[in-house]
Amino acid sequence: MTGSALLSTWFPEAASTHAASVDEPFYWIYFAAVCFLALFMGLVLIQLRVYRRQDRDQLGAVTGRPNPVFVTLWVAAAMGLALFGFITGLPGFINQTTPPWGAFEIDVTASQWAWEFTYPNGHVADTLHVPVGRPIRLNLGSTDVSHSLAVPALRVNKAAVPGREVQAWFEVTTPGTYALQSNTFSGDGFADMRSELVAHAPVDFGAWMEEVSDIFKGRTLVEVGELLYTRHGCAACHSVDGTKLVGPSFKDLYGYEFDTIEGARVLADDAYIRQSILEPNISVIAGYQPIMASFTGIIDDREIEAITAWFKTLSSKGGAAPDAQEEN
Ligand code: HEC
Repeated sequence: MTGSALLSTWFPEAASTHAASVDEPFYWIYFAAVCFLALFMGLVLIQLRVYRRQDRDQLGAVTGRPNPVFVTLWVAAAMGLALFGFITGLPGFINQTTPPWGAFEIDVTASQWAWEFTYPNGHVADTLHVPVGRPIRLNLGSTDVSHSLAVPALRVNKAAVPGREVQAWFEVTTPGTYALQSNTFSGDGFADMRSELVAHAPVDFGAWMEEVSDIFKGRTLVEVGELLYTRHGCAACHSVDGTKLVGPSFKDLYGYEFDTIEGARVLADDAYIRQSILEPNISVIAGYQPIMASFTGIIDDREIEAITAWFKTLSSKGGAAPDAQEEN
């Protein structure tokens, strides 16, 4: 049996730069533990043989005093072993807990019972895609209970605790697909918290990123509009069911007329919606505060088109906007 085959019986394959700093201390401590086990079992056997029950007249005097030399040796050896474990593990521990500058950042949200990975460009996926050979920093959060993100092949295991910002980092060395799971029991659906980490070669990662970055690919305009609504946090201030939040609801918005705080009347048509997104405070709807921030440079023309298309589906006047103008 080769060395690596022997090792893999204990650990899953090692695919990150962290692996050695986890595995080596483990094997050293394991080796030391086996040596001590052999030593103690040997001593026990020797003692059994030497001090086994004998004839009454052969019994020696009971001394009952420990040998100070042996006691000192034993205490020193035990402390040395603990210190050895500490020292072999410390550099790896420090390295694992300090993400390097310039790492590629991915936000991770754990919830009952799914993972959500958000990329810098806003793409959200339920599997974790990363490039090989580049430090990756995960910003972990949880929306409900405690979870933990574990990728055994990368020797990564980090708690995701609600209300606390936790970071993990790693650098994958070998392209491939690795199991990703939670190691913290989080209720009935706990077993569903299994996903995958896909480590791409840098070129492939670039291609993957480009493909998923195009939100129009594989989606209708309306679907893109709805996606932008959740992705850009419009939902925090605008409902889609008529409920008045901080901002007006998007239900029955398109094609309807509204009073502004200046007392003017505006029609929510394409141009008005475009203006409301790019320069929201030019005409503020009566009954609301001018608190919406501009999305200039964040949402482009094509995306505004998609949002408008989606608004139409939410409005009873969505299909007949030009006529609506004449009606009033
Ligand atoms: C911080 C809260 C907030 C967020 C986030 C926000 N808005 Fe608004 N929005 C408002 C408020 C308040 C108004 C009403 C005052 C005004 O017209 O500026 C408004 C008005 C609008 C209007 C005009 C509504 C009408 O009845 O005429 C549109 C369209 C609009 N928002 C679209 C969006 C879109 C699209 C997003 C996300 C990309 C978004 N808003 C994000 C608060 C917000």
